[in-house]
Amino acid sequence: MSAVVFPFKREDPEVLLKNVRTAVAHPRVRRVVCVGAEEDECFAAVARAAPNIARSSGKEVEICVQERIGTKRPGKGDGMNSALRYLVANTDHERIHFYDADILSFSEEWITKAEEAADSGYQVVRHYFPRASTDAMITWFITRAGFAILFPRSELPRIEQPLGGELLLTRAVAEALLADPRVQAQSDWGIDTLYTFAMVAGGFSIYETYMGVGKVHKLYGSLADLRTMLVECFEALSALAGASVPGTTLHHVEYQGPVSEAVKAKVGYDIDGTLALLADGWTEREAELLDHFPLAVREGLNPSRRVPRVTCMDDDAWYDTYHVLLREYHSEDPAWRDLLFRLWAARVLAYTFTVAVRGYDLAMYRLHQMVDCYCRRAAGRS
Ligand code: LAC
Repeated sequence: MSAVVFPFKREDPEVLLKNVRTAVAHPRVRRVVCVGAEEDECFAAVARAAPNIARSSGKEVEICVQERIGTKRPGKGDGMNSALRYLVANTDHERIHFYDADILSFSEEWITKAEEAADSGYQVVRHYFPRASTDAMITWFITRAGFAILFPRSELPRIEQPLGGELLLTRAVAEALLADPRVQAQSDWGIDTLYTFAMVAGGFSIYETYMGVGKVHKLYGSLADLRTMLVECFEALSALAGASVPGTTLHHVEYQGPVSEAVKAKVGYDIDGTLALLADGWTEREAELLDHFPLAVREGLNPSRRVPRVTCMDDDAWYDTYHVLLREYHSEDPAWRDLLFRLWAARVLAYTFTVAVRGYDLAMYRLHQMVDCYCRRAAGRS
């Protein structure tokens, strides 16, 4: 029998409670744990409802505040690690599912598909689903690109949604994550990167299930909304440079189904708001740091330009830019964070204007090609 965990912070309690009820109703689930970042209103609402849900279902429904475990900003990482600690120390569940609390399209099918893949022997099951061609911009340009550059011969760049929060892990995997100090330190948004990394580095078998229904969830505004996540995901990834990862991992990805017109037509972020961010607020220090980067990037983004040029940030320029970031970036220097954000925003805009405009199918093909090309280039170097 399995446990299901929902980490949450300031969510709509109706959505979370509906997901809790769906999870407890599943025949494979014996326990649901909601881990709150703090005792907010959502926490209070779930705490009030939990005893009734437990009574009527005959299952365990628990709610707790996350512990302070890691060394980074207290965030989702502390939440996920708190749940693992609790479940491994106090229960005998062989399988632990995680789902983000805000999924509107959650159903028993998510649990069933994960359980079926685990029944066939896989130690990790990760859900993936169709996303708009201009969504997942950290996933593509930071995480998958970074895994390709740092670990080109491993399965890491081939994980479809390495930042995905919907997954199942078996007890052996949970124990390995708890025993890895890098994973336990990662209390912030970098946790998904670290879980993915540790699953592959630990040699666990991985099955990716395709959820055609997708993950209907809250949308983003300008890319500035993703700034903290961007910085934390990049820093988590760059700290892994030099780590060892075995070359062979049993990894199966379910073939993806037809993608709905709604997903294909969606624009993932606010383009005008993001464009404005490129030109505004350069500090002298940030402008100085720009000198580290390739000429075309320096000229295009030059702070004295009223209208920045972004199309210079193509696949090749981003590959070179990423290498400079891995080499030079200092997390204590706020100017580096600002510049990281600006460079990434330029990359996302360049891709939007030169690739995504050409249609969903071509865009997705080109993103996959970019990752393959980075793997070939990086493997050729080492
Ligand atoms: C990503 C975040 C933005 O996957 O959802 O890139």
